[in-house]
Amino acid sequence: MLIRPRRLRKNQKIRDLVRETTLTKNDLIMPIFVDENLKGNEKKEISSMPNQYRFSVEGAIEEAKEIADLGIPAVILFGIPKHKDEVASSAYDKNGVVQRTIRGIKEELGEELLVIADCCLCEYTSHGHCGIVKDGKILNDATLPILAKIALSYAEAGVDIVAPSDMMDGRVRAIREVLEENGYDDVAIMSYSAKYASSFYGPFREAAESAPKFGDRKSYQMDIGNAKEALKEIALDIEEGADLILVKPALPYLDIIRMAKDNFNVPIGGYCVSGEYAMVEAAARNGWLDREKVIYEILLSIKRAGADFIITYWAKEVAEKL
Ligand code: PBG
Repeated sequence: MLIRPRRLRKNQKIRDLVRETTLTKNDLIMPIFVDENLKGNEKKEISSMPNQYRFSVEGAIEEAKEIADLGIPAVILFGIPKHKDEVASSAYDKNGVVQRTIRGIKEELGEELLVIADCCLCEYTSHGHCGIVKDGKILNDATLPILAKIALSYAEAGVDIVAPSDMMDGRVRAIREVLEENGYDDVAIMSYSAKYASSFYGPFREAAESAPKFGDRKSYQMDIGNAKEALKEIALDIEEGADLILVKPALPYLDIIRMAKDNFNVPIGGYCVSGEYAMVEAAARNGWLDREKVIYEILLSIKRAGADFIITYWAKEVAEKL
């Protein structure tokens, strides 16, 4: 035999030498849930996501400091407001829960940590949908000015990146325009371009109290059977001014991450979602999986598929070991 691939697997040193994919702290983004109903040191564990918490504004700022100290470059914020209504007005309140958190983190950490804010209506609407609802329908164009207002209020609070996750058509353009018009040309847009109508978001909806009160999200999030459509969505978002794009969920959609990487020249992120987290945590609690090794393998796989960065609830834990 002339060619023996096993020669390059002989020991750890040679395996390390030829490994094609690496995972570093710089690849990680840690989500933070901020709950306006909590005060000071209060924090609430999310029952379907063991070891993940909702924090008060003060708690979230402390948490952000810990995350920055670990060498993680960015956090993404999700808000749980006190007040919900039909039009998500607390989402663009200057003193809203996310706006206060952005200001607080920026005051404490400045450029030491990138602050990303998820830009959506579902946590703030009484009906739990990501858009304005009329006669049981989720309206596209009526939702755009609201998304733009939310993004602008985040920019005014000092956010580095806004991340629209609603899946309305034309949202990136609407947000880009309002940011440009108001002098926030350096605020980047990370668009959830290929966001599927996935059943893996269940635990998140508990965490963020954002489950739709009627129907589902299939009229705006992507059909789980489609791949080419993801390319169309990504192309549109780039045209409209997105700086970074996301594929979500990650592990069941590695093919989409790879296609995105091969077809576009923008940074691509994978969002390893709540259900992916819950699945592994549950199996590990039963002793069915070697938790740490599986987590590393999942994150490395997302990188190998082509992701430049990963949003993951394991970011803190993994960063401690990297
Ligand atoms: C808001 C939003 C969701 C997630 C991120 N942003 C929920 C949804 O679309 O229902 C899910 C994240 C996760 O499951 O970890 N639209």
